[in-house]
Amino acid sequence: MMTITRRQVLLIGGIGAIGAAGALWLPRETLDAKSISKLPASEMPRPFRTPLVLAPLLSPTSSGIDPLDGAPVNYYTVTEVAASAAILPRLKTPILGYNGVFPGPTISVDQGSKTVLRMRNQLPAIHPLDGGTTMTSTHLHGSASLPQYDGYASDVTPNGFYKDYKYTNFQPARTLWYHDHAVHRTAQNAYSGLAGQYHLHDPLERALLPQGEYDVPLTITDAMFAVDGSLGYADNDHSGLWGDVILVNGKPWPVMKVQKRVYRFRILNASISRSLRPTLSTGDPLVIVGTDGGLMPRSQSVVTYRHAGAERYEVLIDFRKYATGQRIELRNLSNKNNVDYDFTNKIMAFDVVGDPVNTGDPTWNTIPGTLVGSEPMSLTAAQSTKTRRFRLKRNDLTNLFTIDDGSWQDVVASGFVKVVANPALGATEIWEFENSSGGWFHPIHIHLIDFQILSRNGRAPFPAELGPKDVVYVGEGETVRLLMKFGPHRGKYMIHCHNLPHEDHDMMVQFSVGLDPNDVDVNDPMTAARSAWDTGA
Ligand code: C2O
Ligand code: CU
Repeated sequence: MMTITRRQVLLIGGIGAIGAAGALWLPRETLDAKSISKLPASEMPRPFRTPLVLAPLLSPTSSGIDPLDGAPVNYYTVTEVAASAAILPRLKTPILGYNGVFPGPTISVDQGSKTVLRMRNQLPAIHPLDGGTTMTSTHLHGSASLPQYDGYASDVTPNGFYKDYKYTNFQPARTLWYHDHAVHRTAQNAYSGLAGQYHLHDPLERALLPQGEYDVPLTITDAMFAVDGSLGYADNDHSGLWGDVILVNGKPWPVMKVQKRVYRFRILNASISRSLRPTLSTGDPLVIVGTDGGLMPRSQSVVTYRHAGAERYEVLIDFRKYATGQRIELRNLSNKNNVDYDFTNKIMAFDVVGDPVNTGDPTWNTIPGTLVGSEPMSLTAAQSTKTRRFRLKRNDLTNLFTIDDGSWQDVVASGFVKVVANPALGATEIWEFENSSGGWFHPIHIHLIDFQILSRNGRAPFPAELGPKDVVYVGEGETVRLLMKFGPHRGKYMIHCHNLPHEDHDMMVQFSVGLDPNDVDVNDPMTAARSAWDTGA
């Protein structure tokens, strides 16, 4: 068991959130925090008792051709609804789910096709977690979408309405995810289940990496449970929510059967606050082949790496040398300022089976070294025309986290005009983020673009992050420098912390690309594509 620090005791002692039954959320343990869920021991899940499951693959409702450019268009419909999930051994857990499942259905598309995603908000009027509103805004994280389809926080769709989101899938292959982004409600909505993976394929990626059943999405979250099996929510004065149950694809510490071959895992940390430090129980390498923005120029073999919320890492694990019946655990070494419990040091397990391997698939035994280059990874610091600096802060008086002194409420108060940066279309810039606090880490996400991490505290970035990124872990006392080129769209986009209680309180600002203050913004995220009346169809 982990020893817990005085500060963590203070955090846990400060919890005052309301459980689903309306009961006060009181800690069961104070000094020895073994768990935070209120479940009786008999209902508490234990590691490695349940098989890994995958989210269903979503089929288009129809397909067509874009008359303007001849590109294939796939139309999807997803309905946000309250549902019940089987997470615990016996008790059912109420969730909010895309099509009623958590994680939401996986959407898989090819580069060059277009997606029209009709997102129907059929949530109850009252949020089951806290009685708040259930307006939603859907962000496809990892997509350079137009601002009006980017899940702009204040561009909300109330329950009873829908919005059609359009994605052009022109970027290189990558693991994206769609999640709720409603203004000041992102944490509750994502935690309640509104998150799913979206895979963009291209020919280079298909030739290099395992596909189909050997290309496995792993969406990792943490959760805490009330005595009746419903989700608990306690964010420690917005510092973060630290659940004691680790879920992979919505199941606690699952087990996956694996053949003696190379597998590809698309690891998404969809926890609203917790960061991970994954490692294998054997000490064998995790081979990182992809980061947020797709394939890295070269694979990187690591024993462990730091993995914040919203980051995606595509990882190869080679199971060839293990014995039939051997169990390999994927563990979590954790990072500073997470609150850990008895079993948060485990994620899932792999059980090796002796089934014959199809050696006709060349990816079965291939660990590629050289992968593919990309625009963000080819940029050089000399191309930058401007360096901007941002400080990540906490205001103890207001209990708000801010970027410099900016917050989303300032953006709202400005009529969505206020921006913290206004690069020209096509400009290359260096953005520096400084977190001088010792108390929090901040995964910073910049919408629209992929960046290259130039340095952390003046040193080289970690091996695992030597690929195109859209989230950067800004750890305690760290300063990171990022290099990026702004485009291909003009318009306004968000920058925020992806610790979602931080984002909502109120660590989010915006920048504009290629806009003069006097320009008419044809892609105004609040007005260019409003949600429509739900016809009930
Ligand atoms: Cu994953 Cu602005 O979000
Ligand atoms: Cu933060």
